[in-house]
Amino acid sequence: MIVLGIETSCDETSAAIVKDGEILSNIVASQIVIHKPFGGIVPELASRHHVKNISYVVDMALRASNFKIGDIDGVAVTNRPGLIGSLLVGLSFAKGVVARYGKKIVGVNHLEAHFTIAFVSGAIPLPAVALVVSGGHTTLYLVRGLLNYKKLGETRDDAAGEAYDKVAKLLGFGYPGGVVIDNLAKKGDPSAFNFPRGMINSGDYDFSFSGLKTAVAVVIKKKGKEALNLNNLAASFQEAVADVLVSKSLKAAEDYRVRSVIVAGGVAANSRLREKMIGESRLRNIKVYFPPIEYCTDNGAMVAYTGYLYFKNGREDSFSLDAFDSDV
Ligand code: KG4
Ligand code: ZN
Repeated sequence: MIVLGIETSCDETSAAIVKDGEILSNIVASQIVIHKPFGGIVPELASRHHVKNISYVVDMALRASNFKIGDIDGVAVTNRPGLIGSLLVGLSFAKGVVARYGKKIVGVNHLEAHFTIAFVSGAIPLPAVALVVSGGHTTLYLVRGLLNYKKLGETRDDAAGEAYDKVAKLLGFGYPGGVVIDNLAKKGDPSAFNFPRGMINSGDYDFSFSGLKTAVAVVIKKKGKEALNLNNLAASFQEAVADVLVSKSLKAAEDYRVRSVIVAGGVAANSRLREKMIGESRLRNIKVYFPPIEYCTDNGAMVAYTGYLYFKNGREDSFSLDAFDSDV
């Protein structure tokens, strides 16, 4: 079975071809340079650039896999959650393919795709806890089986990646800021500042990062950027984020007696989060799984792969498939 996957939920226009569960191509057109001058994503600009890029990106994905559009069996398209204008570009394009070539269509949950792509590298013992940490989301799931999962909790305010991006912006670094902070933190002392670990003992699986962001902003305002050791500031901020993410994920794993933890999304690339999650999990006899790094940030391959699993299990949508900004 050959599946075309389309991803346009945020600021990457991406398409991929998956054949029988194997990723044959994955083309990603990033809009980072477009949004960089604004210090964050401008939704209207994102939609316009998806319109500009989508045909080309799909064409590239097909060429790279040596298939023609008529060869595919179905289209998998991210239809939730995301920026509604951006989602509609991918969905409309997918419907165009369906109408013209008579293919099947299935809508894919972007967050489910983020953790499902972890299975492409091999079997993961189930049930598992999955943490999806990106610029837009911080969500914890209990995964009972493929396509069988339940949301345990999510952020009540900022996403973890958003906190990274905002702290980087406060320090005058460009967007996105995760990698910059990660690199500074490697040279700093994580105990230099005692930043708050929001909701760490709340007893549920929700997160909050806006208090941490404000605490960092207050330190910068009080002392002035120039007087601060930025390595120490970055390391202390990063430690607070990692502490909360690791603590909540492992609490969920222990509460549900789960031995596997999947960490996915753009922030899964963070060096301290990876190190701490692996170290703390080992002590509890839990194994941690990360998707291949190129499938951590937004990409069409995760959508094509999840859609392939849907089709294989007999699931498909009708032509009236809609897009939603929330995680329905
Ligand atoms: O999954 P993704 O590509 O897009 C969304 O769906 O949001 O994630 C992008 C986010 C950005 O906030 C970026 O700063 C963050 O992932 N990020 C990182 C690292 N690499 C990317 N955050 C912390 N450490 C990193 N190494
Ligand atoms: Zn994402």
